[in-house]
Amino acid sequence: MAGMNILATGSCLPERTVTNEELSHSLDTSDEWIRSRTGIAARHIAEGQTTAGIAAQAARCALKKAPAGFDVSEIGLIVCATITPDDHTPGCACQVQKELGLDGSVLAFDVNGACSGFVMALQIALSMLEDGQTALVIGAERLSSILDWSDRSTCVLFGDGAGALLVQKDSRRCVNAYARTLPDKADLLRAPASGAIAMKGSGVFRFAVKAFSEIYEHCVETEGPLKNRPDAVICHQANLRIMEKACRSHGLGMDCCFVCLDHTGNTAGASIPIALDEAISSGFLQRGMDTLLTAFGSGLSMAGLYFRY
Ligand code: ACO
Repeated sequence: MAGMNILATGSCLPERTVTNEELSHSLDTSDEWIRSRTGIAARHIAEGQTTAGIAAQAARCALKKAPAGFDVSEIGLIVCATITPDDHTPGCACQVQKELGLDGSVLAFDVNGACSGFVMALQIALSMLEDGQTALVIGAERLSSILDWSDRSTCVLFGDGAGALLVQKDSRRCVNAYARTLPDKADLLRAPASGAIAMKGSGVFRFAVKAFSEIYEHCVETEGPLKNRPDAVICHQANLRIMEKACRSHGLGMDCCFVCLDHTGNTAGASIPIALDEAISSGFLQRGMDTLLTAFGSGLSMAGLYFRY
């Protein structure tokens, strides 16, 4: 697949932080249980903020970091991965288009792919762009709005946030992409139209480790210009133990795997772009590094992308 040049990234984590300690006041849980089973210490919760609001903030953050001379009017496509839009329609991407003051020459739409949604959105954007054209690809979630705050087995895992990538199609580069969904396993993880997220945690855990391997085999162990061992791995930030087990099974040390779920929790479609933004701004991810994005989620779905940053 023809590749991409990431021009800039941005993210937005709502101001309100909820620690494990705070959750333990209202739930039969503890900081020790949550940290040791998941690696999560805290998450952000959007109070009085909309999904489109935090999505637009992440987009503005990316635009601020765009190369000198870049003009917002160069954006021709906005794709937003979300399972928690503010309205059924218009979608979150359309609301971001309006907030950024972009005219009707832009196409904007949402992708519902749960935690795999951002990688799917990036794949779709790349397949739609012509060489040199630019898209804004966003992941934004307000998962706090679809959680049962009395269910300790789910609510401790998730958080709110948004991340954005300003990405240009560049046919001189290549990306290896892979995605599929397994409908027969879809009952392991569900968020009904009116109701909260429900999940069979251990089944999802096993699926996640297998999904990583399947993505790795298709994206990394293929012939092509990219190395057959990534310099950096950006996993969907769901559970540290999933990342450790998945990396170990391919002989990868955790030093190449970026982790930020300790302070974000699982932000579903926003998880990969937030992690990418933090990996780049912290200096973890540097130009020239062969980078694997891997995600799994409801559906059950998996999606991966391997590229040179
Ligand atoms: N605090 C204390 N105890 C708890 C908590 C909690 N927050 N939650 C569950 N427990 C208890 C359970 O009730 C159970 O008690 P029991 O043995 O008396 O019945 C015990 O802890 C063990 O529960 P398990 O589910 O076996 O714990 P496990 O080690 O599997 O960890 C977890 C659970 C963290 C959910 C793990 O299975 C996991 O991370 N799975 C993957 C989930 C995931 O990634 N989901 C996101 C999908 S992406 C998307 O699209 C939304």
